[in-house]
Amino acid sequence: MITVALPKGRLGDKVYNLFASIGYDCSEIYDDNRKLVFENPENGVRYLLVKPSDVAVYVYHGAADIGIAGKDILDECGLSLYELLDLKLGKCHMCVAAQNDYKEDPSRPIRVATKFPNIAKKHYMSFNREIEIIKLNGSIEIAPLVGLSDVIVDIVETGTTLKENNLKVFEKFLPISARLIANRTSYTFHKDEIDSLCSRLQKALEEK
Ligand code: PRP
Repeated sequence: MITVALPKGRLGDKVYNLFASIGYDCSEIYDDNRKLVFENPENGVRYLLVKPSDVAVYVYHGAADIGIAGKDILDECGLSLYELLDLKLGKCHMCVAAQNDYKEDPSRPIRVATKFPNIAKKHYMSFNREIEIIKLNGSIEIAPLVGLSDVIVDIVETGTTLKENNLKVFEKFLPISARLIANRTSYTFHKDEIDSLCSRLQKALEEK
């Protein structure tokens, strides 16, 4: 049986529908309950519903054989995993955003609020700009509004959250989408099964 870590929420629903369309369904998943593990032994699949930021951790430690994680999560965690397929779902960008009238002060480090400290550091290091990281876990857009930071580094999908909080994009630097990832050892032991799943997913995406 293959264990798949799915990110809970909007992206997870899309990904589950894709898996179901190629025969890896588990109809109980649609029931209104608080279950987090769903098995369908006939299809040889087990789903774990985990927080999007934890998918890579489950797969890295082998608690799941494969999983679906955003490129943002993969770049941020830096774990050694196989990235098998770009599912082209959940497309968005990593951006630097700030208040509409923001002007950078070159005489001091930029205060950057973010859920993605490693991605933010790498970005600013690429042009040798000194920064101070303020690590937050959500609602990042508030930080520049209340003077906690100068800018934010965050994902922007529709841009609605920025707009409704009077912020705008100053730099758009990393395209993001969902990736199929695999544990290195699991991939060695279940190569045929995972490769077959991967090519069926690819075909289903092409036919979409
Ligand atoms: C993400 C991100 C932005 C928002 C962008 O937050 O951190 O806040 O979505 O989407 P938009 O461009 O379509 O408005 P998420 O919904 O994950 O919630 P969070 O603030 O708890 O991180």
